[in-house]
Amino acid sequence: MKKISLTGIKPTGIPHIGNYIGAIKPALQLSESCESRYFIADYHALNSCKNPDEIRSMTREIAAAWLAGGLDPDQVLFYKQSGVPETFELLTILLAFTPKGLMNRAHAYKAMLQSNQSAGKDPDDGVNMGLFTYPVLMAADILLFDTDLVPVGNDQFQHVEMAVDIAESFNFIYQTDALKLPEAIAQPHTKTLLGLDGRKMSKSYGNTIPIFSSEKELRKLVMKIVTNSQGIEEPKDPDTCNVFSIYQAFASPDQIEALRQRYLAGGMGWGHAKQELFEVMNEALTPIRNRYQELMQDPGYIDRVLAEGSHKAREIASAKISQLRQIVGID
Ligand code: ADP
Ligand code: TRP
Repeated sequence: MKKISLTGIKPTGIPHIGNYIGAIKPALQLSESCESRYFIADYHALNSCKNPDEIRSMTREIAAAWLAGGLDPDQVLFYKQSGVPETFELLTILLAFTPKGLMNRAHAYKAMLQSNQSAGKDPDDGVNMGLFTYPVLMAADILLFDTDLVPVGNDQFQHVEMAVDIAESFNFIYQTDALKLPEAIAQPHTKTLLGLDGRKMSKSYGNTIPIFSSEKELRKLVMKIVTNSQGIEEPKDPDTCNVFSIYQAFASPDQIEALRQRYLAGGMGWGHAKQELFEVMNEALTPIRNRYQELMQDPGYIDRVLAEGSHKAREIASAKISQLRQIVGID
């Protein structure tokens, strides 16, 4: 029996190469050995985004990023969270098994409290209940599909551990194993990709390189990556360099070693290193960009794929919900 892998991405910004290298690509590799269920976490986006056009268009962009990145909807169950309303029924069930204290300990919530406190505001300023109970909705996403493995970035590990806590509490109370305990797995061989300014690439920092940048935009963005002021002749340290760090995510081991030697030898300016980076990135991203252009010619296609996937996902989800309703006595 293959293991079940599941992950979701929120449609809250233009998909960038950090999402591709850190989430989409490794999840697609995992789907070669697992039965995979990948979805767009659209209701999760509502906590922070109240612009309907933006949610709509970002949902298509994230879906396009998965499809252009190689997701085959005949192999991977691919759907929208909102297309599986059983998720929200399970959320209601799980809320009854989630201690409030557990939510108080969630990193994202704690970070908001702290930033409010240091700004002298009310600690709960700007915190809606969707944000507060975010980990329970995420637990519902995961537990609804009998998930074994959740490929996510390190920042999401705590949420998966909370899903395990909630599932254990449910299973213990009813003396059942109806809820399978999931495990978070880090993306193999991927580090956090750095952005143009050297911080983590993130849409919240505005330092991203969008996956679907045109060749011209890509070149412009690569040339903007911040470097130090060393001159051409000086030897350079690849391990503290932004350009090299992104290069490693796209180049082959031989190319990486060759560029490393050129850094150490000196005689190579930043413009040159950036040109090398642009070339490997452009080669890797061109097929994805072309596929994206094709997908965008038929906007109905993405909607149809998601609708069909959501329909199939509901069949699995409604069987699970019937089982759980019976266990709790609401049948
Ligand atoms: P962002 O930080 O841009 O808001 P998200 O939090 O929506 O990105 O992340 C979606 C997925 O992409 C997650 O699985 C996350 O781990 C991955 N991801 C985001 N940024 C990076 C990055 N800079 N490097 C590697 N993976 C990333
Ligand atoms: N919280 C995840 C993030 O911010 C997105 C997400 C929602 C998710 N539901 C999930 C990830 C279920 C894995 C499994 O990146």
